[in-house]
Amino acid sequence: MNRRHNFNPGPAALPLEVLRQAHEEAVEYGNRGMSLMEMSHRSPEVERIVSHTRELLLELLGLDDRYETLFMAGGASAQFGLIPMNLATADAPGSYVLSGSFAEKAYQEAIRAGSAHAAATSKQTGWRDIPKREEIRLAENAAYLHITTNNTIEGTQLRELPDVPENVPLIGDMTSDILSRPLDYARFGLLYASAQKNLGPAGVTAVILRRDLLERSAKADLPLIFRYDTFAKNESLYNTPPVHAIWMMMLVLEWTRKQGGAAKLGERNAQKAKRLYDAIDASGGFYEGIAAAEVRSDMNITWKLPNEELERLFLEQAERNGFEGLAGHRSVGGLRASAYNAVPEQSCIDLAAFMREFVRTHG
Ligand SMILES: Cc1ncc(COP(=O)(O)O)c(C=O)c1O
Repeated sequence: MNRRHNFNPGPAALPLEVLRQAHEEAVEYGNRGMSLMEMSHRSPEVERIVSHTRELLLELLGLDDRYETLFMAGGASAQFGLIPMNLATADAPGSYVLSGSFAEKAYQEAIRAGSAHAAATSKQTGWRDIPKREEIRLAENAAYLHITTNNTIEGTQLRELPDVPENVPLIGDMTSDILSRPLDYARFGLLYASAQKNLGPAGVTAVILRRDLLERSAKADLPLIFRYDTFAKNESLYNTPPVHAIWMMMLVLEWTRKQGGAAKLGERNAQKAKRLYDAIDASGGFYEGIAAAEVRSDMNITWKLPNEELERLFLEQAERNGFEGLAGHRSVGGLRASAYNAVPEQSCIDLAAFMREFVRTHG
């Protein structure tokens, strides 16, 4: 197979060795005479997969058993609703840092769920920047502070986590940068990520939360299927979980561990992103980065060309040269290269070379 350079924003590139392993085991899992997709979710095999995936995730995040890991459906978007439903009340709203389109969506869903408070916004910059730590104002009785650590659409990434008082948990939407860099993950009370960028194929969302927050989520008037404590008590097997997606997450996490975890991947991701930012910065203004330089993301690299016609031409030629997924989000325009953990460094080297050549011939 001729693998393309996959810069898709999500679903995104998966490690080739994980795909091969999944292929080998697709028809028969172990020596069980059937595939995993045909097995009961109450079987010992599935229980082992779920518990091993949970252990791997905590280990790679550097978190201990004060944290619980839940595997839920509905993507990160479901968490936009479930977080306020489980953890906020009309008197104690969640405070939200608005740093991009997904952060704003989370905030809007919290308003729909009952109440929410905007702690800071960078919308006035067209989401090119992220609110500074000192600009954040918590609601007086804030249930939590919600941040988005990487703004996938705009290509900005939070470098320093905000400080919160001890009784206000920090909640992070880490969908597009979980395990992409070393971070003090224990600063979070709850962090979540849908799988389809750094964790595996789409279909499952990892929610990692401190156990003390589970007591708060036991709200009698919430349907059981929407309660975090239901998932915790039943080890994510309350109803039929997306078993195959969890298994794939397990394989991706094993691969992540083999790569040296978040620390090593962080070095590699910074190097990959630098190759592309260097091509942008050395283009004499032909390419213009979209994100403010101090908050440029290592995961989603966004830039513009002098006009839309050149952007279309760039995309066409890129496609023909084996580069996929480079169109910017429709709300931002321009171009975006998503270089998640599984995107090989060589793809970034080749794209940077293609970008330089495009400037030489069209600049
Ligand atoms: C930061 C962030 N949050 C939330 C979402 C929404 O995720 P999902 O499509 O899994 O609901 C995305 C999707 O790209 C994202 O990048």
